[in-house]
Amino acid sequence: MRILHFVAAALALSGLTACKQEAPSAAIAVAPVLTSEQARDEFTFARPQEARVTHVSLDLNLDFAAKEIGGTATLDVEAARGTKGIVLDSDGLRIERVTDATGKPLVFALGKEVKDKGQPLMVELPAGETGKARRIVITYKSAPDAKALQWLAPEQTAGGKHPYLFSQGQAILNRTWIPTQDSPGIRQTWDAKITAPAGLKVVMSGIAAGGAEPAGGGRQTYSFKMDKPVAPYLIAIAAGNLEFRKLGTRSGVWSEPETIAAAAAELTDTEAMIDAAEGLYGDYRWGRYDMIVLPPSFPYGGMENPVMTFLTPTFIAGDRSLTGLIAHELAHSWSGNLVTYASWRDGWLNEGVTSYIENRISEEVFGKQRAAQERALSFAAIEDALAEQGDKSPLTALRTPDGTSPFDTNTSVTYEKGALFLFTVEQIVGRERFDTWLRSWFDRHAFQPATTEMFVADLRANLVKGDAKLEKALLLDEWAYAPGLPANAVRPDPQVFAAVDSAATAYAAQSTLPTAQWKGWTAAEQMRFLQRLPKQRSAEQLAALDTALGLSATGNNEVRFLWLKLALSNRFDPAIPQAEQFLSKVGRNKFVTPLYKVLSEQGEWGMAVARPLYQRTRAGYHSFTRGNIDEIMGIAG
Ligand code: BES
Ligand code: ZN
Repeated sequence: MRILHFVAAALALSGLTACKQEAPSAAIAVAPVLTSEQARDEFTFARPQEARVTHVSLDLNLDFAAKEIGGTATLDVEAARGTKGIVLDSDGLRIERVTDATGKPLVFALGKEVKDKGQPLMVELPAGETGKARRIVITYKSAPDAKALQWLAPEQTAGGKHPYLFSQGQAILNRTWIPTQDSPGIRQTWDAKITAPAGLKVVMSGIAAGGAEPAGGGRQTYSFKMDKPVAPYLIAIAAGNLEFRKLGTRSGVWSEPETIAAAAAELTDTEAMIDAAEGLYGDYRWGRYDMIVLPPSFPYGGMENPVMTFLTPTFIAGDRSLTGLIAHELAHSWSGNLVTYASWRDGWLNEGVTSYIENRISEEVFGKQRAAQERALSFAAIEDALAEQGDKSPLTALRTPDGTSPFDTNTSVTYEKGALFLFTVEQIVGRERFDTWLRSWFDRHAFQPATTEMFVADLRANLVKGDAKLEKALLLDEWAYAPGLPANAVRPDPQVFAAVDSAATAYAAQSTLPTAQWKGWTAAEQMRFLQRLPKQRSAEQLAALDTALGLSATGNNEVRFLWLKLALSNRFDPAIPQAEQFLSKVGRNKFVTPLYKVLSEQGEWGMAVARPLYQRTRAGYHSFTRGNIDEIMGIAG
């Protein structure tokens, strides 16, 4: 306790005396930290105006038996003159010691725990020479239940013989395995040496430096480097029995040998997507674009970890119909990774802008029709969200209310309304003009944090340029801050789903099934049809649907999900084995959480299925998915 008081007092003092940031050394590219109110991140303990991390150097060992990552994190720190300490984020880390670069111990203390945020790790700073980064070395271990990490037993992998590890840092989970300032506005370069059992291959969200070096004890060390400053949630790792397949000159895919062929086949459009994105928004600045197809327990569809997108295997449909996911994660190489929201309240700046670019890439690679259909699905999702929340709800504004959990931004508002804002501006000013502006926005803010107000101000300064008529037509502030849908929102073309919509109407009125058309429909058309069915269906009607359309046999997991939701919400017994099979493998939150929700809404009929199933699968889920289902199942976290 005395130590804690010492450091806390030192930090409080430094807060009073801190005024001038030391000049950064010319050698390191240091991204600025924004000081505006909108850039304030309430989910970090860091006080970057006093002292901030500029570089993280990891030297870590993977211990699969203990489910621990341990070793050292060496941090380069820039501090304001007179600052005596730095505050880092920690969540469950076991800190063994902290020293300066010469090994001299530094005083440190963990502060009071705050729900979801973890604890502040306060460290005394070594005296620094002006203009030079000060260096601290933290020796630590992650906890076996670290929320960012999933340690899979061999049975949970496709091969069944080797264990597997992967991380998911976004939103605020990397503090469970890396002691640094875990805030998207505090960009850091990093490098890592990772030691793992020799049978396993390690990949990270940085460029691999050289091959594996023998490390003794049947172990190997891999080295990685990210020389561009990135938001710390983008540091990611995976290890397992992995094989690589080249896709193009700068792209490739990793996965277990059992799934590599299917993965590579599904990803053949990758180079075309990179080319399309570059044509629109300028050079791809990260060097390689590789992907890893993870085991099905991965909690998201995809995660845009730089140079190594992480993917669920559930996007593999056999016909490339769900590769909008790749366009999306690739698009984050501009929106999200190059220019990053400074606070979690501006989720749309990453996800909405990315959803817009995703659609532009899809249009280039797959054509206007597919892109228009995806826009229509996305518009329907906005309408559903507005109907559910009420269009006056602050939850329907792009900039989310103070206190919103960084995990609650995966909504149609963030993604689809955010994208629609850009489609609307594009339509009003014209595509060419808008593309030029968006590209210049990325150039002006490359490798820097941004806020909603910066985005709107930049639109005004560089696109509107005082044109009063245009300013009036755009409704920029309403889009950025008001709930609901502004009057100028672009509506989707009602013709893109004309055939499907009339088939859905015919089915609702006369039970006519689109048996002949179904197989010829695109994935988007099939999804549209299933979303437009009457919600109440009898067992006979569901059986007829399944027989006519082959729903239980679909290879498309988005279609399967919609079918299972419909079937389970109508207590259709024949769907239970399928649902059990799907849910015991897949951990993708977007599928799993709604299906558990539907089951829980069916009283004992559904709970009798859900309870034993969840008991078996719970340990295999990521902390995010598990937290959501625990809530549905009434399990205290
Ligand atoms: N960056 C997100 C995933 C994310 C967001 C994780 C916020 C944690 C907090 C990723 O790019 C994403 O949007 N994934 C979607 C892809 C879909 C929209 C194509 C997913 O996982 O479903
Ligand atoms: Zn995204």
